[in-house]
Amino acid sequence: MYNYQLLEDEALEYVSVATTDELPPGERIIFDIDGEPIAVFNIGGKYFAIKDVCSHDDGPVAEGPLEEFEIECPRHGARFDVRNGKVLSLPAIVDIPAYPVRVEDGEVLIGLPLET
Ligand code: FES
Repeated sequence: MYNYQLLEDEALEYVSVATTDELPPGERIIFDIDGEPIAVFNIGGKYFAIKDVCSHDDGPVAEGPLEEFEIECPRHGARFDVRNGKVLSLPAIVDIPAYPVRVEDGEVLIGLPLET
């Protein structure tokens, strides 16, 4: 399971990662939660979160150029859809994790899977 957006709410823990003021449209933030690098994007007022680890060679992917919803890995150019983590081009062949995002009281929250 890579797309954690598909999990029920009970299987997720929502964690605040920024205020909406800190993440205006066109911006992205990259941070670590429990050693997991995660990136959140604001694209036209909608928020998307992916794991900041390229499935090709484990490099950071989220600092690369973003075109519409496609992020390009700065290392070897693999592209992923930030909406769902789907891989879109070689050299990567595996999706990357995507997380659900919600906004409550001006805070941007991402849903992390609970340990099973
Ligand atoms: S590490 Fe991302 S394309 Fe190679």
